[in-house]
Amino acid sequence: MSQLERIGVSLDKNLLSRFDMLITDQGYPNRSEAIRDLIRRCLCEQELEKPTAKAIAGVFLVYDHHAAGLSKKMLEMQHHNLLQTVSSLHVHLDHENCLEIVVLKGKVKDITRVSDKLTSLKGVKLSRVNLLALGDKGD
Ligand code: NI
Repeated sequence: MSQLERIGVSLDKNLLSRFDMLITDQGYPNRSEAIRDLIRRCLCEQELEKPTAKAIAGVFLVYDHHAAGLSKKMLEMQHHNLLQTVSSLHVHLDHENCLEIVVLKGKVKDITRVSDKLTSLKGVKLSRVNLLALGDKGD
């Protein structure tokens, strides 16, 4: 474990009060844990701005099960991008709609290229890409 260092921060009372309410609602046990998470999130966002940064993404796609050839196209895309596709999960939502969650791992620019292709396929009704920077993790 890395060494711990203590810091002191001066904050406006009202700002601190609002922060305390927020972290209480979110279930944080203390301010330190909440501040650590905020710093990690901020560093992660900055890392994701680099096209060559290592990352992992969950691509959520809700699509029309009956759209001509869409399932096949998605499968082909995952096979052609095997290096980036870690896993995928398929859920039958109802008679018409399916949810596919594709996990991609690689450089930010490669993930973005593949996820853009997936989300723009005809028949995809809803999509969201959640990217996390890996830093030194996941080698
Ligand atoms: Ni299905």
